[in-house]
This record gives sequence, structure tokens and C-alpha cells, in this order.
Amino acid sequence: MSQARNRRIVLASRPTGAPVPDNFRLEEEPLPEPADGQFRLRNLYLSLDPYMRGRMSDAASYAAPNPLDDVMGGATVARVEASRNADFQDGALVLAFGGWQDYALSDGRGVMALDPELAHPSHALSLLGMPGFTAWHGLLKIGAPKAGETVVVAAATGAVGSVVGQIARIRGARAVGIAGGQDKCRFAMEELGFDACVDHRSPDFPAALEQATQEGIDVYFENVGGAVFDAVFPRLNDHARIPLCGLIANYNRTAEPSGPDRLAPVMAGLLVKRILVQGFIIADHYGPDHEEFLRDMTGWLREGRMTIREDIVDGLENAPEAFIGLLEGRNFGKLVIRINA
Ligand SMILES: NC(=O)c1ccc[n+]([C@@H]2O[C@H](COP(=O)([O-])OP(=O)(O)OC[C@H]3O[C@@H](n4cnc5c(N)ncnc54)[C@H](OP(=O)(O)O)[C@@H]3O)[C@@H](O)[C@H]2O)c1
Repeated sequence: MSQARNRRIVLASRPTGAPVPDNFRLEEEPLPEPADGQFRLRNLYLSLDPYMRGRMSDAASYAAPNPLDDVMGGATVARVEASRNADFQDGALVLAFGGWQDYALSDGRGVMALDPELAHPSHALSLLGMPGFTAWHGLLKIGAPKAGETVVVAAATGAVGSVVGQIARIRGARAVGIAGGQDKCRFAMEELGFDACVDHRSPDFPAALEQATQEGIDVYFENVGGAVFDAVFPRLNDHARIPLCGLIANYNRTAEPSGPDRLAPVMAGLLVKRILVQGFIIADHYGPDHEEFLRDMTGWLREGRMTIREDIVDGLENAPEAFIGLLEGRNFGKLVIRINA
């Protein structure tokens, strides 16, 4: 009998406002043994993503809530072991929904084989994974930037935003990032190739954004909402496009913001400027679009045209604190937990 145990982090309670460590519980259980048709996943890397905040809540949404006392869901890069499924051999490297734990059982559904030679397996959770596809789809299929246009994206050094800016540049557009702090802005310009980057924490943020977008904004890739949206909205040009990807500034909110109702002026602005706003959930778009994305992204990687900064945190036990930090902008790059790699 193996002495190995499975550590898993379960949802202990649902947060009110910002998640706290007590919303999570670390448990141990015997190593799960595969039944016929199953295999065991040994998770190597766990992706932490903002959508997980929504799953911690039981408010109605596009996806079912994470059940209480169940392991927190999440995408992982994993190795197959103890396989009793002919389609997955021991040792294979896969992308799976293995969750916040050391090991998981799978029958192969939703599991994707990865190139065993992948130089950076964690890229399957970033550039080559869901965040990269989100950036590609939202920018190219909804934003559709033309050469010379101005594309603005917030959370510009993060998993999605960093890819949006780089694709915008590849398409000949001007990329303007918005990020939290000077270090992130410097990285956006010097390493990711953004033409400009503005710190949303700076007191002169609206003026700095105006300065950086003197010809207005043609595509605003919306990741954030809140005060960032307020500063961007007056800068939008006629016929601007807004791929509505995320509203992370709202995820921990417990009440509607105070102040006058801004719906009427926002709707009037959308009408008068003939602006397109299109919300999208990337899970709806796997299929032919995903194959096109993989062709584009592997090509750009091969040509050395894509950079990603990964914020890798060691140890499953550190996942709750890292996730709490993601919702406050403490991560610098795509947040990944290294478990058994
Ligand atoms: N629609 C979809 O299918 C889909 C798929 C993937 C992701 N998303 C959305 O895309 C957005 C980015 O996700 P990601 O995975 O790429 O995360 P990320 O950018 O790697 O990390 C989150 C970043 O959001 C920024 N942030 C956090 N709280 C903020 C606040 N109150 N105001 C302004 N900025 C704040 C921080 O960056 P700064 O420090 O730079 O501000 C933080 O580092 C999220 O809204 C997410 O929900 C949507």
C-alpha cells in the first residue's frame, strides 16, 4: 500500500466581500485509487483565476457554484499515473480540471493531452491556455482592431491583458495598458511592448490616460470596470468596440456603488457614439475558433513574438493567500501554484 496522501483545499464557507483564509480548509485523505476506465492525475501546476471568486458564491451565474466542503475547482497541468484507461498512458502530460489538490481521479472527459516536449508546461495554463484564448477571442473576434487604431486594456501585465496588448501590436494597433503601479507599467512597456501604460492607482490617472490616448480609444478590452471604466468611457471614439471580458473591480463588492445612477449617461454615450459592447464567456467558444487560436499562438511563440510573466507560488497550502491577493492586484503576471513539479 502506498503511504502517499492527497492534500486538498475545500470551500469551507462562502465569502461576504473579499475572501478570507477561513473560507478555505486544507484536508488530507488517502490517495485516490482509479477504478476501471479511470486514471490518477498528479497535479503539477494549478491555475488560479478570477472566475473562481464567482464560483465561491452561490449567486446565479453562468456556471454552477462550487459546492461547500468540495474541493475547489481549477485547471491543472498534471501527469497521468496508475492508468486503467487505454487512451491515457502513465507518464502522459495533460491539461485537466484537477482542482486545488495533489491528486485527482479522471475518466478522461475534458482532459487534453499536452506535448511532452512542452518547454514550459505551465504555459498550458497561460499563453496556450484559457487566458490566452480569452485574449485572442475577445480582441480579434469582437474588438477587431485595425492597424493604427488604439487598443486599451487594464490588468495589462496579467494573464489576459498581457496577451491582449501583444496581439494588438502584432495586428499593427497602438497598445495602451492600464496597470496597478509603476513596476507593472514599466514591465508592460519594456518587456511586453506596450506603446504606453498608465498607473490606475496614481492620483492623476484620468489625466495620464488622456495624455496616452490623444487620438481617443477604438477598442477597450474590459477586464476591470469601476474607476478604470469611468476614466476610459469619455475617451472612446465613434464606433469603438468593447469586448466585455471581466469586471474584477466588482467581484468582492457587497453593495451597489453610491452616487448618482450613471446608467443613463452611459447608455446615451453608447448610442451617440454607436459603440459595440459584447460580453463573452470563453467556455462557449471552444471548437474551430480554439484550433485557429492554437495555430496563431504556437506560431507567435515559435517566432519569439510572445512573452508571458508567470507569478509562480510554491506549495498547495499557499493557494488561498495567493488567490486572495489576485483579487487585490498582488499578483504580477499569470498566477500559478506549483504543486508537485
Ligand atoms: N470572459 C471570460 O471568459 C474570461 C476568461 C478569463 C478571464 N476573464 C476576466 O479577465 C480579467 C483578467 O483576468 P486574468 O486571469 O488575466 O487576471 P490577472 O490580470 O492575471 O490578475 C488580476 C488583476 O486584476 C487587477 N485588479 C484586481 N483588482 C482590481 C481593481 N479593484 N481595480 C483594477 N484592477 C484590479 C490587478 O492588476 P493591476 O494591479 O494591474 O490592476 C490584478 O493583478 C478578470 O476580470 C477575469 O474575470 C474573463
